[in-house]
Amino acid sequence: MTIRSVILGAGCYLPSRVVTNDELAKTVDTSNEWILQRTGIRERHIAAPGELTSDLGIKAAQAALAAAKVDAQSIDLIVVATSTPDNTFPASAVTVQAGLGITKGAAFDLQAVCSGFVFGLSTVDALLRAGNFKRALLIGAETFSRILDWTDRTTCVLFGDGAGAVVIEAQDQPGQMTDRGVLTTHLRSDGRHKLKLYVDGGPSSTQTVGHLRMEGKEVFKHAVTMITDVIRDAFAATGYTAQDLDWFVPHQANRRIIDGSVHKLGLDPAKVVITVDKHGNTSAASIPLALCVAIADGRIKQGDLVMFEAMGGGFTWGSALVRM
Ligand code: ACO
Repeated sequence: MTIRSVILGAGCYLPSRVVTNDELAKTVDTSNEWILQRTGIRERHIAAPGELTSDLGIKAAQAALAAAKVDAQSIDLIVVATSTPDNTFPASAVTVQAGLGITKGAAFDLQAVCSGFVFGLSTVDALLRAGNFKRALLIGAETFSRILDWTDRTTCVLFGDGAGAVVIEAQDQPGQMTDRGVLTTHLRSDGRHKLKLYVDGGPSSTQTVGHLRMEGKEVFKHAVTMITDVIRDAFAATGYTAQDLDWFVPHQANRRIIDGSVHKLGLDPAKVVITVDKHGNTSAASIPLALCVAIADGRIKQGDLVMFEAMGGGFTWGSALVRM
């Protein structure tokens, strides 16, 4: 027998305010046609004044606990993947922990920008398999609207706010590829690219929060290669191929990056979960949001083989192959 990290349920939360491309075009020099054609984004959700990353995270966590049919008191590990914490410290995870009424176990934030959920899944999987914890909440929660330069049309049209969460449990199992759980994860980073996508402020450098800056063409140039390389690592580790996947749940940055990766890997486009049109890029929240949507509408079911991938600032990138 071996310990496997099994996803018991997923939940999500999106702020109520929806901002369409046409609405954005009233305040920045852009158009619905330009945004849609270059990114696939039609609209995004934006947090209300005073609505914090932890507020989004708590709501997503509550939905995940309900979907998993487990009590908050059974959670002994909370990891919040975010680049937009409520404060520099404490971790937003401890605010989520307190908001859920949990006083035991551990809670911490994880920062890998858009790759945060995949890095978080790998981290939680390792901690559960080491026997340190029994049942975890992994949350991706972001309020990117707070770090955007709303006068910069090259970045402000791309992002949105939201949160997604999963409950992950350590289960004793035979540990075959057909058994449920995280089968393999592969994480990478290369700091030589750090200035291609970054925030121009921080506690140690400027003592300000700063704004997101990006060389879009450079990000695009590297994204498909990095994503497909790390997915191939997952195939090599498990013996599975693109044809074996039931679903592909990519980080939702840009429709063209997703389509390019799908084409290069020879994946069936009908097996790709797309939410970027409705959510924009919600960074670490995008994968659990997409997972939550596809479980709720009946596409992703227990036993399905699902590939997650992400790439983001740093650069960081990674893949995770999961039997749901
Ligand atoms: N509306 C209208 N015009 C715009 C806008 C806009 N919102 N933004 C830029 N333009 C203009 C530019 O000023 C430029 O005009 P010019 O030719 O007169 O100079 C023109 O459109 C073309 O600009 P490019 O930057 O060359 O446009 P490109 O085709 O590269 O598309 C984009 C830009 C969509 C950002 C693309 O580079 C891209 O998708 N990059 C990946 C970035 C990404 O997805 N980042 C997410 C974070 S990273 C991650 O999560 C993986």
